[in-house]
Amino acid sequence: MRTLPGYSPGMRTQVGIVGAGPAGLTLAHLLHLEGIESVILEDRSREYVEQRVRAGVLEQGTVDLLVAAGVGDRLRREGIVHGGIELRFGGQGHRIPMSDLTGGRAITIYGQQEVVKDLIAARLSYDGPLLFEVAEVAVHDLDTPRPSITYVHNGRRGELECDVIAGCDGFRGVCRDSIPPGVLQLHERVYPFGWLGILATVAPSTEELIYAYHERGFALHSLRSPKLSRLYLQVDPYEPIEDWPDERIWEELHRRFEREGWTLHEGPIIEKGITAMRSFVAEPMHYGSLYLAGDAAHVVPATGAKGLNVAVHDVKVLAEGLVEWYGSGATELLESYSDTCLRRVWRVQDFSNFMTTLLHRLDVDAFEDRLQRARLEYVCSSEAAARSLAENYVGLEKV
Ligand code: APR
Ligand code: PHB
Repeated sequence: MRTLPGYSPGMRTQVGIVGAGPAGLTLAHLLHLEGIESVILEDRSREYVEQRVRAGVLEQGTVDLLVAAGVGDRLRREGIVHGGIELRFGGQGHRIPMSDLTGGRAITIYGQQEVVKDLIAARLSYDGPLLFEVAEVAVHDLDTPRPSITYVHNGRRGELECDVIAGCDGFRGVCRDSIPPGVLQLHERVYPFGWLGILATVAPSTEELIYAYHERGFALHSLRSPKLSRLYLQVDPYEPIEDWPDERIWEELHRRFEREGWTLHEGPIIEKGITAMRSFVAEPMHYGSLYLAGDAAHVVPATGAKGLNVAVHDVKVLAEGLVEWYGSGATELLESYSDTCLRRVWRVQDFSNFMTTLLHRLDVDAFEDRLQRARLEYVCSSEAAARSLAENYVGLEKV
């Protein structure tokens, strides 16, 4: 085994995984269950990845996969199952009975960082290699059957030789950019607004999620537990968070959720931040010995709550391909990995764009504004339209 100059003779594994987010950790666990070795390299600390507040809606398929993989006990205990959502506009609420419309499928509210905590605990319970706080990660020889990953850990340079590399390092990772120019086709849409998200230690004022369209902008009432509320406001993405003192946030939430006989309860805000809204897809999701998964290959606006779920679907497909390859040498599933994933990626891109343009205040002319209103009323009055929204929201069994 050759060693790159300046690097201590490296480790050898079957699958080198860059990134310990939901994609990388789920992949490592699925491979472990099939006796396939992997090493995860993560550049942040364990504390950081376990505390990073992100979304918190799990599709039926994601819950089923995590439970079947033996990492769903706490999810089942603490996750909150919802059979519907409310669309609110014009001071009225309209419930979309998703479970009734999809043969009983539902969503589960369970923070992304809780999923990450459970997967890290499982990984460490069987001493699965997981290096935190690695630096200078770089991937090499992607167009050979012996790719490698170099990195610095605890001040020492290391090299990990593997059969394949899974690029699960998110939107700002290094793996996607390591693919030679001209190979990838990149699709991007950046929305002219962002989301200001807060975490507040107050009991949620709602049993189910409320998606509110208001002429002052979109608002979302979500939750994390019976004591923890998660709320979002459509804001100017370039406005500094300092311009949003807590009082102003609550005042705006009250106005956008206004509905006769309904009250939003306030409480201490313990976390707040503004995130941009973008749609992004890199095609193909495979180059040589490198397979991209999750945010490394695609990003969706949060309105459809799809980011984590499509990342888990990617690695489910990748694990199946690797199991087939290591099991029989057959490469069909690996060769079709990118096409298989991109079918679902574009489905959720379309749904996330639909939800985003349905529910946000768009700077459009009066005609477009009326169309948006008509679309909202249609979704809330037509069972066929509501069923379409519901089946996409709880997660399509097949695409
Ligand atoms: N080297 C090692 N690790 C890296 C590097 C790097 N150069 N760059 C990024 N990482 C790590 C990040 O610190 C992060 O922990 O890769 C991980 C990528 O995880 P996520 O961004 O959570 O992406 P993914 O696992 O694909 O999950 C997608 O995450 O961002 C949410 O909304 C998104 O829900 C979606 C989900
Ligand atoms: C969340 O709970 O953080 C959440 C819920 C629904 C979304 C986005 C985020 O569409």
